[in-house]
Amino acid sequence: MFDGFPCAVEGALNMGVHHSVDEILPGDCSQGSYYFSRKLHINFKMNIVILAAGMGKRMRSSLPKVLHLLAGRSLLSHVITTARELIPNQLIVVVGCGATRVRETIVGDDIQFVDQFEQLGTGHAVKQSIALLHEDVSTLVLYGDVPLTRVETLRALLCKAGQDKLGLLTVEMTDPTGYGRIERDTGGNIMRILEQKDADEAQREIREVNTGIIVVPTLFLKGWLSGLQNKNAQGEYYLTDVVECAVANGIPVVTEQPAHEWESLGINSKAQLTALERIYQRNLAETLLDTGVMLADANRFDVRGELVCGTDVSIDINCVFEGQVILGDDVSIGPNCVIRNATIATGTRIEAFSHLDGAKIGVQAHIGPYARLRPGADLADEVHIGNFVEVKNTTLAKGVKANHLSYLGDATVGTRANIGAGVVTCNYDGAKKHRTMIEDDVFVGSSTQLVAPVRLRRGTTVAAGTTIWKDTSENSLVMNEKIQTTKNNYIRPRKGK
Ligand code: UD1
Ligand code: MG
Repeated sequence: MFDGFPCAVEGALNMGVHHSVDEILPGDCSQGSYYFSRKLHINFKMNIVILAAGMGKRMRSSLPKVLHLLAGRSLLSHVITTARELIPNQLIVVVGCGATRVRETIVGDDIQFVDQFEQLGTGHAVKQSIALLHEDVSTLVLYGDVPLTRVETLRALLCKAGQDKLGLLTVEMTDPTGYGRIERDTGGNIMRILEQKDADEAQREIREVNTGIIVVPTLFLKGWLSGLQNKNAQGEYYLTDVVECAVANGIPVVTEQPAHEWESLGINSKAQLTALERIYQRNLAETLLDTGVMLADANRFDVRGELVCGTDVSIDINCVFEGQVILGDDVSIGPNCVIRNATIATGTRIEAFSHLDGAKIGVQAHIGPYARLRPGADLADEVHIGNFVEVKNTTLAKGVKANHLSYLGDATVGTRANIGAGVVTCNYDGAKKHRTMIEDDVFVGSSTQLVAPVRLRRGTTVAAGTTIWKDTSENSLVMNEKIQTTKNNYIRPRKGK
């Protein structure tokens, strides 16, 4: 039906494929993903319509279904990211239920939202976008609740369908319940798609199902959609009925299968969402293990964003990584840490139960257990932060130690400074934040308050239990006058029996 090389040539002539001829490799189109990898800069032109208007009743939530999170991002944003990789002419999202919230959450100048005020079926949904579709290229329909289809799979489908065939992404399922079944004739040619509710018992035995992802030549699509009927079990306008139209019009119908079943899994319930989340995390864990990252348990590990690891990184159980996290070589992360938008350099150890957000940490540092680094925590090499120490909007120079029970907020701390247990920067006067400047080699004794704005000059020693509210001079010893009185033979009050 298709041999790869002519596809590429045909594409070059008719299909808006952009490549240079020496980039085309001979072979078979079953390797479509190979041909159309980004490395080769080959892209079909197409419209993309993402259907996201459905109710999502089974989520039992006030949040529109497509805004539920998978790996920290909405289902719809996963689909949009994949769609963007295909560089479409038009990127259209059909919204309906919860439309305002979807429009507010999903942003991008390249996205055009189209309203479907009543949810009358997938065919009706696509029809709402008709005026925006470029007729000279095909239209690819994706679902906002099918988040993990790989771009390679879509490229392979687009490659097979070209601009003149109808392409369907289908999959063989052991349990096809609920899906539209692919009905083929004895010669294996596709005849139509039958929805579960319209199929008889024999038809329900068919295991090849419609994933919902379809590519259709746009001119035909427009005509077929305008002729759709809703005479079926659900009283809906089915997009899938265009397959029968194609067959009737002699337009070839081709199919492609994803490499993995999870690529075609859609989300209708929280049980399905959590199951797909585990698949996503497991895949990611395996990829990291393959690249040499040591995970104590691939099943107790979550990335909700992007995690970049150097060599010999080790990650203990139950860690959550959010946003952009970069771990340098030989970094080790203890159990039960949450690390969000952080960069951690070579050889640094993060001990158990630490919470890092918006922090930057140099080489050979030692953080935790039970440390909290908040946005703007900028730690140089060899810094030690111990248990119950909170650091916010603060720069710590090389070799600073703050090992126990302290709050360092809006401060600048010089090299080798030692911050004793229970030191607190009093940075807030009720209206404004003020800075505390601690210069090199300062030693701050335990249980000290530093009332900002204040400067502790180089080499200052602060006695334990001091309240500092005036700048200190270099190499001085600073303490508050306190009188210790003694009452001998004191009898402590006792509780009655
Ligand atoms: C659809 C397919 C079915 C396929 C299955 C795969 C049709 C008729 N059936 O069935 O063959 O096996 O997907 O998951 O297409 N939507 C709208 N507006 C509507 C209706 C739906 O935007 O009026 C959106 C939904 O938000 C969802 C997608 O279209 O993202 C699919 O709708 P859904 O109702 O889940 O279709 P299925 O019955 O599952
Ligand atoms: Mg569905």
